Amino acid sequence: MGKFIYVVLLMFVSAYQGDSELNPKVTRSFTIDYKNDQFLKDGKPFRYISGSIHYFRTLPSEWRDRLRKLRMAGFNAVQTYVEWASHEPEPDLYDFSGILDMEAFIRIAHEEDLLVILRPGPYIDAERDMGGLPYWLLRKNKDMRLRTSDPTYLEEVEDWFTNILFPKIKPLLYEYGGPIIMMQVENEYGSYPACDYAYTAYLRDLYYREFGHSVVLFTTDGDSTSFLKCGKIQEVFSTIDFGPGGNISKIFKSMRLFQPHGPLVNSEYYPGWLDHWGQPHSIIGYQEVAKSFEEMLQLNASVNMYMFHGGTSFGFTAGSNSGSEFLVCPTSYDYDAPLSEAGDPTEKYWVLRNITQKFLPIPAGTVPPPSPKYKYGDVNLSVLGSVLQLRFLLQSVHATWPLTFEELFVPNGLVLYETTITFRTSDPARLTISDIHDRGYVFVDERFVGMVSREAEMYDLALQSLPNQTLSIIVESQGRVCFGEGINDFKGLTTRPTLSDYELRNWSMTPIPVTNITRLLSALHNLEKILKQRKVRPEQLRGTERGGMSFYKGTFEIPSISSHPRDTFLKLKGWSKGIAWVNDFCLGRYWPEVGPQVTLYVPRGILKHGTNSILILEQEASPCQIPSQCIVSLEESPNINGPTPKTDI
Ligand SMILES: *[C@@H]1O[C@H](CO)[C@@H](O)[C@H](O)[C@H]1NC(C)=O
Ligand SMILES: *[C@@H]1O[C@H](CO)[C@@H](O)[C@H](O)[C@H]1NC(C)=O
Ligand SMILES: *[C@@H]1O[C@H](CO)[C@@H](O)[C@H](O)[C@H]1NC(C)=O
Ligand SMILES: *[C@@H]1O[C@H](CO)[C@@H](O)[C@H](O)[C@H]1NC(C)=O
Ligand SMILES: *[C@@H]1O[C@H](CO)[C@@H](O)[C@H](O)[C@H]1NC(C)=O
Ligand SMILES: *[C@@H]1O[C@H](CO)[C@@H](O)[C@H](O)[C@H]1NC(C)=O
Ligand SMILES: *[C@@H]1O[C@H](CO)[C@@H](O)[C@H](O)[C@H]1NC(C)=O
Repeated sequence: MGKFIYVVLLMFVSAYQGDSELNPKVTRSFTIDYKNDQFLKDGKPFRYISGSIHYFRTLPSEWRDRLRKLRMAGFNAVQTYVEWASHEPEPDLYDFSGILDMEAFIRIAHEEDLLVILRPGPYIDAERDMGGLPYWLLRKNKDMRLRTSDPTYLEEVEDWFTNILFPKIKPLLYEYGGPIIMMQVENEYGSYPACDYAYTAYLRDLYYREFGHSVVLFTTDGDSTSFLKCGKIQEVFSTIDFGPGGNISKIFKSMRLFQPHGPLVNSEYYPGWLDHWGQPHSIIGYQEVAKSFEEMLQLNASVNMYMFHGGTSFGFTAGSNSGSEFLVCPTSYDYDAPLSEAGDPTEKYWVLRNITQKFLPIPAGTVPPPSPKYKYGDVNLSVLGSVLQLRFLLQSVHATWPLTFEELFVPNGLVLYETTITFRTSDPARLTISDIHDRGYVFVDERFVGMVSREAEMYDLALQSLPNQTLSIIVESQGRVCFGEGINDFKGLTTRPTLSDYELRNWSMTPIPVTNITRLLSALHNLEKILKQRKVRPEQLRGTERGGMSFYKGTFEIPSISSHPRDTFLKLKGWSKGIAWVNDFCLGRYWPEVGPQVTLYVPRGILKHGTNSILILEQEASPCQIPSQCIVSLEESPNINGPTPKTDI
């Protein structure tokens, strides 16, 4: 079936291109008919019902399935961001492979009969680390004014856009036979305090210069005049975003103040909402979602549902929010969307599909079934060694004052900061690490003595120390701020720590290579060898008494039956907070102790027949003091709605 559609579409596309060459009257066009408040596709009135699916949040093996489920709900377009940070992890180092093969995703969408609405940013928010901007911008210029016409910023944007990204996009535009009908300039710029009109005009001109004036550009802003004031760009089509519940015609009126004519568009209609660690899981009832959805469609609006399928912020890609509080986004990006994190249709899916079909035809065929799940059961783990033991096998950098992650070329994860206490302190002594980014685990002579935390706004610690003792602070980045003023979010020790009011000097900094699995595995392999030679007992391998700051590993078997491997969910009962890998693929951070996410989605695409491996870096406490309890389990169903501290009190 899939292959058949693919072939037919290819024939159609190539026949089509042939036609347009021979017959200039047959041109593909997508335009805005301002006079009649509508889009025109090939000259005919058109409206879209679109859904957001981010290619970088779903494994490529599942793209076709998710896109087909979108199409089979009657939706005729998919909207996705492009994430600069993932495509250019270090300056001039590019990655468009695997989960980052944006062009393949767009081609599959085309094959599945979907149009594409592209949001190249450069800033995207999307609850991603630094809102999708590359962390190394902060190294190039530590005072860089991101998202403004600061020349040091524009230089990087222009290089990325015009030399790398735009040439990939161009052949995929609608007018050249591809599926991309519109492209967004920046993202919710009206919510960013800089309000730099020169910047947004610059971006607009970059698009028009590269793609010509026939391309449809748009902006997206919150649904009030205060947002549109700085978000609106002259000669760019304005759209707004809002969730269910309000008075739809009234909401669209705020947009009409800035754009009296043109089709009505909600570019982010929220069927659910994002989560933060430690706060209850967001749930929005389908009745409410369905009601406003239908009201918008009755007004002839075009709508994009954000998210239609949220997926997962694998690895270290999840961001954080800062405002009155520092709040961290979890690994799951389920979003209470019509398709679950694992891509399964929910009740919301069927309800919305029923509404869509009143306005657009549903293609013939059946909705692909949910993916089969499997309970692979308990997996025994054993401790491998501690972070402090590993440091002797890693390279360190020395400096008088602490360097940030950015200066150390560390995109994310953990850095060990160490110094020798050279003076006699009071008893206890106050250690102050003001504004730590984000979570510090403090050790004196390798003994864990407590923590400092940006989330908890606790920056002081009482400790006892003697001259010549080593002070070690393992600092965790919990993801860079993705929204608002705080996006210049340097990680690590961003200020000078003091002990008894003396500024501590002469730091040794050791990045723990959790973001580079090749380097991590090689270091762990060497560590294991050395510890084995020295016949170190298991209890000496723990980084803390409770088993924190230690690596654990184990394996499980998947029988060689054709229907396996299947999707499964990693449950870490009795574990506290850390990072999990399966078959060297970083699933992301886990933190069942604060919730609401309790299990991590393990997509079948990373599993294999035979022996599969699990690697855990537990930062705080493992259940392994009792060896029979040193287990994790692979479950048949997810739990992303667990108890959280704030609701339990
Ligand atoms: C919604 O707003 C419109 C225009 O502002 C108004 O005429 C209408 O009465 C409102 N509807 C409801 C249900 O409040
Ligand atoms: C929606 O479009 C149809 C067809 O063009 C038109 O008859 C109808 O009046 C429009 N409805 C609204 C609310 O604009
Ligand atoms: C969708 O519509 C069909 C036909 O009207 C109805 O039988 C079904 O219950 C509806 N499904 C949902 C989930 O509302
Ligand atoms: C600290 O260590 C140095 C060098 O090892 C030694 O000379 C010095 O006496 C030690 N100081 C204290 C207070 O132990
Ligand atoms: C820092 O290191 C330098 C050079 O190794 C040394 O001269 C200095 O005394 C040290 N300062 C402190 C406070 O340890
Ligand atoms: C990861 O480490 C390996 C080995 O040191 C290196 O070759 C590779 O470039 C690194 N990858 C990234 C993305 O930094
Ligand atoms: C896990 O370890 C327990 C002993 O703690 C043992 O009984 C069990 O067979 C082990 N399971 C596997 C799958 O190896």
